Amino acid sequence: MARLILDGISKRFGEVQALAPLDLEIGSGQFVGVLGPSGCGKTTLLRCLAGLELPDTGRIRFGDRTVVDVEAGLREPPQRRGLGMVFQDLALWPHLTVFENVAYTLRARKDTVDLADRVHDALAKVRLPAHAARYPHQLSGGQQQRVAFARAVVDRPPVLLMDEPLSALDAALRVDLRAELTALTRSLGLTAVYVTHDQHEAMSMADRILVMQDGFVRQDGAPETVYQRPQTRFVADFIGRLNALDRPLSSVLPVTAGTGADTGAADTGAEGTVAGGATADVHARIDASTEVALTGSGVAGVRPEKVRLSANGREMVALPAEVELVGYLGDHYELRCRLELADQPWVVMSDTRVEVGERVLLHVAPDDLIVTER
Ligand SMILES: Nc1ncnc2c1ncn2[C@@H]1O[C@H](COP(=O)(O)OP(=O)(O)OP(=O)(O)O)[C@@H](O)[C@H]1O
Ligand SMILES: [Mg+2]
Repeated sequence: MARLILDGISKRFGEVQALAPLDLEIGSGQFVGVLGPSGCGKTTLLRCLAGLELPDTGRIRFGDRTVVDVEAGLREPPQRRGLGMVFQDLALWPHLTVFENVAYTLRARKDTVDLADRVHDALAKVRLPAHAARYPHQLSGGQQQRVAFARAVVDRPPVLLMDEPLSALDAALRVDLRAELTALTRSLGLTAVYVTHDQHEAMSMADRILVMQDGFVRQDGAPETVYQRPQTRFVADFIGRLNALDRPLSSVLPVTAGTGADTGAADTGAEGTVAGGATADVHARIDASTEVALTGSGVAGVRPEKVRLSANGREMVALPAEVELVGYLGDHYELRCRLELADQPWVVMSDTRVEVGERVLLHVAPDDLIVTER
């Protein structure tokens, strides 16, 4: 049973509140990505879980076992918590072979029954069975990270903690290893907490994402939810690109397009669909979501891939813009467009070449507008 429960965990270093009091429950077998800018408290959270840092307040339970209870003075040491760890700076021993590096924790614990089989089994899982006799300096960076992973899982811990394990590797290798680590973690049935500041890494690997800022968890949800329905402007900006709106959409609303045939809006309901044809409907829903736009919450913007250069049969808002820059990326063109409602240019994708200086209409479906709380 590898459910993790955190209850009021907090940590302060001098003036810095590295971790605000946090309640969190991570289900058995879940793969949680912890994402946020530098200094937001990701490593502190992981170190508290690992037992490398004592929180100032709160309790941590692994399944039915309490591993930390600050008020009761209870603190289980890292080696007794049943954790595997892969940290960016948790280097392999340079003077030990790959085999001995993986065997190290088992030997330290005098847990040596079937040692050779278990080490070879772990190395086979990371596709390095033939490298057992090599030394770390005889391996590539990616191979070293795979050995670190084998070392972390050799004694079958129920929980695996990873802190930026791929950040020292080059971009192409990171993408390969992402998939490999995810598949391995899932095939071993581990509960995983994976810290990164790379949003693509977090979204592609995890089935749940925590976005942190200044020691707080700002959003906790499935990758799709965090990306498509960010709750705050910070999360919207941090996860993916946002074409931000700085002035209320209602100021240009009269321009709408749509045939009414494809009523993608009718099934949303949530914003309170109003009868009276496509145009009135779009107006009603945009008015509802933008009425607080100038007070700091409301429509924050739209993801670049949701902006279209034509109406596409759906009812949409059309925003006039001027093309400032065109880049050809092979599978599409990327445009930078200047529009009245936004301080920064929007990024728009196009299948065909558009000339710099051209006036275009940028179409956005109301359902694709990102509405945040603040
Ligand atoms: N041992 C420490 N002593 C003093 N301050 C610390 C200590 N560890 C962390 N901090 C501070 O706590 C805050 C959170 O640090 P943490 O290492 O958790 O950030 P992070 O999200 O992992 O950042 P990064 O992405 O750069 O690794 C930072 O302001 C950091 O300077
Ligand atoms: Mg860190």
